[in-house]
Amino acid sequence: MEKEIIEERQGEILVQECSTKNTKKMFLESYGCQMNFSDSEIVASILSNEGYNTTSLLEEADLILLNTCSIRDKAEQTVRKRLSQFNAIKRKNPNLVIGVLGCMAERLKAKFLEEEHLVDLVVGPDAYRDLPNLLKNTDDGRNAINVLLSKEETYADISPIRLGGNGVTAFVSITRGCDNMCTFCVVPFTRGRERSRDPHSILKECKELRENGYKEITLLGQNIDSYLWYGGGPKKDFSKASELQKATAINFAQLLNMVAEACPEIRIRFSTSNPQDMHEEVLHVMAKHNNICKYIHLPVQSGSTSVLQRMNRQHTREEYIYLVDKIREIVPDCAISHDIITGFCGETEEEHQETLSLMKYVKYDFGYMFAYSERPGTVAHKKMEDDIPAEIKSRRLKEIINLQQELSLERMKTYINKVHEVLVEGTSKKSKEQWYGRISQNAVVVFTKTDNTKVGDFVNVLVNGCTSATLIGEII
Ligand code: 5AD
Ligand code: SF4
Repeated sequence: MEKEIIEERQGEILVQECSTKNTKKMFLESYGCQMNFSDSEIVASILSNEGYNTTSLLEEADLILLNTCSIRDKAEQTVRKRLSQFNAIKRKNPNLVIGVLGCMAERLKAKFLEEEHLVDLVVGPDAYRDLPNLLKNTDDGRNAINVLLSKEETYADISPIRLGGNGVTAFVSITRGCDNMCTFCVVPFTRGRERSRDPHSILKECKELRENGYKEITLLGQNIDSYLWYGGGPKKDFSKASELQKATAINFAQLLNMVAEACPEIRIRFSTSNPQDMHEEVLHVMAKHNNICKYIHLPVQSGSTSVLQRMNRQHTREEYIYLVDKIREIVPDCAISHDIITGFCGETEEEHQETLSLMKYVKYDFGYMFAYSERPGTVAHKKMEDDIPAEIKSRRLKEIINLQQELSLERMKTYINKVHEVLVEGTSKKSKEQWYGRISQNAVVVFTKTDNTKVGDFVNVLVNGCTSATLIGEII
């Protein structure tokens, strides 16, 4: 489990035949968060119209695209290592175009072309509509770049091509960008200003997924609770809205309610919630609808108010605890997971202990834990000192991971001897005779296949055992 939590996610090769008529081949690999994965599906859709199908074979690709992540230095190093593997392929096929998309493209801009001579194309997260033009520019061996950020782009009208999926679970992105300006974070610089997508296009996409047999939708946004749509525009400047616009605005709780009602037999999940923006109204909507999964990913980053202040997190330890108490009161069976950064600038031993004690208070189901990695251009980089030695960061990280493992095991045990509704998502990696799926609280369950079950079925599973990461059960 430790390995899974602290290692950067490896690239995921995304394959799906886009159109039988298409003859050109692209190799598309996505790094980083779910949002990046969702963006890759938009890229596949745009390039499908340009005659491209995806391939999992590097050797037959006309175009290699890496959709990259900048969140920690290690994520960037992984991409650079991957790029160096393409040298030999490019030597064999000089017409091959290699493109870098996403957050690293946005952060490094033209510098990428100088530093990595292999790269022909650099495209930021808001410029994917320009890909067809940019690709034309590379026809005669020139480089092409577009890293303009937009205040409006939501790709609302583009139908994503669902990649590498099981035909059952899908992501639908509803906001882009982030205005929070946490001092450690590169995302506001790589993904730009926050903007919300037209609710009609969101509902349309959800209904299409339902018609195509999908059974679970995860609504995505870097800061999903600040979703706000009003008066026909995604602009964030709500203070300038007219009275009518204010009266008819749609917030996240209302949107969630609309999606849950429009797709009653589909499971709805959402991510990511930031504590300062999450409202009680969302909790009431969760409690009201059986089809909204009882799971909230609620990053905390640190359990210490002074560290939270240095991180510019806009909430205290006490406010976070108040929110957790509200969740327990309004949605009692809700699972909660976290993101925690250890060893942030100036973190004392006492502040670290406060993180451990908060974890014990919340009894998190699960968590993603990271050692602080200084990112160029952020406020922490400019104004604070990355002064916690690597050994201390790593020791504190281990303590946090060990504690989380204990807490996860405790939480998993509470699911034993109970029947849970599980969506069958696929064959278990460990055994062909077993399915895997998730319960509403997002815990993975493995159970023996029966003759009459298939991927996409909802089944009732009696859980009779567990590890800290997986539940084990039987269909009843
Ligand atoms: N160093 C380490 N972890 C980071 N995260 C964001 N920026 C950094 C950084 N500079 C973590 C946060 C965030 C998650 C997506 O990644 O915990 O919630
Ligand atoms: Fe990585 Fe953040 Fe960009 Fe996602 S938004 S790809 S986590 S840097």
